[in-house]
Amino acid sequence: MSTEKNLKEAFAGESQANRKYLAFSKKAEEEGHESIARLFKATAEAETIHALSHLKALGMVKTTAENLEAAISGETYEFESMYPPFIAEAEKEGNQAAVRAFKFANAAEQVHAEIYKKALADLAKGETHKYYLCPICGNIEVDNTPDRCKICGYPGDKFIQY
Ligand code: FE2
Ligand code: FE2
Ligand code: FE2
Repeated sequence: MSTEKNLKEAFAGESQANRKYLAFSKKAEEEGHESIARLFKATAEAETIHALSHLKALGMVKTTAENLEAAISGETYEFESMYPPFIAEAEKEGNQAAVRAFKFANAAEQVHAEIYKKALADLAKGETHKYYLCPICGNIEVDNTPDRCKICGYPGDKFIQY
């Protein structure tokens, strides 16, 4: 089973490289290095291609119902088991940036799990919704934007619609 383990590790690494290169691209843009920004963007997309082919080889993209189940358990693991000890440890170490990042993520994952659960329950009905993303904390609201984000207080009219 070592290829399965290797695929998982490669998927994790390529996924991280994608997000890292996007962050580097944004920074290059801010510093006026337009061509380097494009290079990071193109390479980020290349790493996504690699990540997706590893994920496919793992057989981890299934039916939408199964994918919603997988998404619910992933989000639930994060807010039940992963983030609470991470938050406690960051508080103990006095790492305020980490506390803030973990707390925003922890609260948003609970919202994500709830929305996925509702989407799974409603799957057969074929209902459609609009989704609004808070660009600061990752909170998502369904169909309506709030006055202010319930997690981070960001103005609802600046949420991104999907
Ligand atoms: Fe790659
Ligand atoms: Fe999430
Ligand atoms: Fe927010």
